[in-house]
Amino acid sequence: MENAFSDRITDVPKSFIREILKVTLDPSIISFAGGLPNRLFFPVKALQKAAYEVFEEEGGDLLQYANSEGYLGLRQFIADRYRQQEGLEIAVEDILITTGSQQGLDLLGKTFLNEGDDLIIEEPGYLGAIQAFAMYRPRFHPVPVSEGGMDLAALGKVLGERRPKLLYTVTNFQNPSGISYSDANRRAVADLVRNSSCLIIQDDPYGDLRFSGTRKVTFKQLLPANTVLLGSFSKTVAPALRLGWLVAPPPVMDKLIIAKQAADLHTNSLAQRILYRYLCDNDLDAHIATIIRQYGKQKNAMIAAIEQYFPASVQHTNPEGGMFLWVSLPAGVSSMTLFEAAIRKKVAFVPGTPFYVDRKDSNTFRLNFSCSEEPTIKEGIKRLGESIRELY
Ligand SMILES: Cc1ncc(COP(=O)(O)O)c(C=O)c1O
Repeated sequence: MENAFSDRITDVPKSFIREILKVTLDPSIISFAGGLPNRLFFPVKALQKAAYEVFEEEGGDLLQYANSEGYLGLRQFIADRYRQQEGLEIAVEDILITTGSQQGLDLLGKTFLNEGDDLIIEEPGYLGAIQAFAMYRPRFHPVPVSEGGMDLAALGKVLGERRPKLLYTVTNFQNPSGISYSDANRRAVADLVRNSSCLIIQDDPYGDLRFSGTRKVTFKQLLPANTVLLGSFSKTVAPALRLGWLVAPPPVMDKLIIAKQAADLHTNSLAQRILYRYLCDNDLDAHIATIIRQYGKQKNAMIAAIEQYFPASVQHTNPEGGMFLWVSLPAGVSSMTLFEAAIRKKVAFVPGTPFYVDRKDSNTFRLNFSCSEEPTIKEGIKRLGESIRELY
């Protein structure tokens, strides 16, 4: 059987995070390892009501095949929101509803990548993007990100030496690091990319979850013909809906629609109609404000505990939004070894290694703050601090 599998599936590693999450199923473990939005904020009753109403009103029509681009009302809602929130004029025809933004990544890989093509990815970068693109066997060029944004010298070097087709970025509250690119950094990245044929993928599932600071310029404003935006309802409404979208310029959209049709004909239209009804009958911004208030408090509790319990030589990011922060141990201290020590003290996190395309070990790790109450955060970080002090 071993010989039957494609090279592509054999090469892509199993999600390391899933293996780690198995360890954290033990309820006595305080887990900062997950990447989930907090279930307390899923609008259960309102979605239930929306589902009931669309079934009552639309009957059989609701259950028919639908168009590949997605439900028009939902696409219009997304276009209106871009105008209100970002001052961006997006035509409805430039929006494709996808099965989560994760599918957007797969469709972009399918549409652009031949084996061996050059692709730039943030380092550390979103594990799900590494996995989705790896299926198409590109040559990854990791470019470091740190507080403030992308390393411009490293980006300039890859753009100068290779002809990358895609540049993958999460510019707001990045997964895994929580880092956001500054306005100046975004402009400088756009200037570097401007004279190349590289397409920027701006994946933005967390942009609405801002608890401090101000909105930043998007690549769509800076380089409209060279940017694809990805968005998602997973972090603002509920991930089980599996509803996301991508915004692409017309020539790219033509090809993406072909990829979409080949993949699944269209995104679950029942879920789209239910979500659209929910969005019409409820105030999404008020709902998001509730989430932000809580995540912001939890982030502050985590930062305060880190400052109290971690040795001063440990560095951390201080995100303005999102669900994660990133910790760097002194050079040479392994976060995998720390993981084992921490599990003995019943606290878990995700070691940094899977967020790099080419490392076997790292001194970094990701902490999730969206799913734990403040007292739990304090206790978990205290245990983690003790585990760190055991190592060096
Ligand atoms: C940066 C990033 N992109 C995409 C996704 C996938 O989200 P969705 O549920 O929309 O597929 C995630 C999920 O955690 C993410 O962190």
